[in-house]
Amino acid sequence: MIDIPELALVALVGISGSGKSTFARTHFRPTQVLSSDYFRGLIADDENDQSASADAFDALHYVAGKRLAAGRLTVVDATNLQKHGRAELVRVAREHDVLPVAIVLDVPEALAWERTEARADRDFGRPVLARMHRDLRRSVGSLAREGFRKVHVLRGPEAIAAAEIRYERLF
Ligand code: GTP
Ligand code: MG
Repeated sequence: MIDIPELALVALVGISGSGKSTFARTHFRPTQVLSSDYFRGLIADDENDQSASADAFDALHYVAGKRLAAGRLTVVDATNLQKHGRAELVRVAREHDVLPVAIVLDVPEALAWERTEARADRDFGRPVLARMHRDLRRSVGSLAREGFRKVHVLRGPEAIAAAEIRYERLF
């Protein structure tokens, strides 16, 4: 069971192919989920255009802030493997007195690669995934220190599939 506050900024954390977007679709309403792919598409007409990332994240953080200001649970569907990117999320959450929460989807690199290879919309090589996996290993231990008030780590596809979200009342 994953306990999260009714109002939270939820950062999904996981390598490509770990199942973040699938998890987001399963557990949250579409409008609650801000995905970096979607925002890259809005900016550049191409969800894979990495050169649009900086602007896409600017826009994503802006919208996240507007949602949190209105008291709406917000889920960020991005790999969130870089410390500086996560720091922005913690900053936006704090600015609105909202708790930042991390849900880590930790799947074996080989499984993520198998899934990635099968996708028409992903064409990076295995070394890129390997780097993400190293970044993930490094990230997991530091999330709490970075300001995430709850860190839920789902290890393996079974744990991810079995996960249920339970909302905690804030008062
Ligand atoms: P990126 O957006 O590239 O970072 O990946 P992601 O973490 O959002 O992964 P996504 O949810 O898109 O899943 C990647 C692929 O794996 C998709 O083709 C999914 O259908 C598949 N997939 C995700 N979760 C599961 C799962 O629990 N079981 C199975 N069989 N396939 C899954
Ligand atoms: Mg995705």
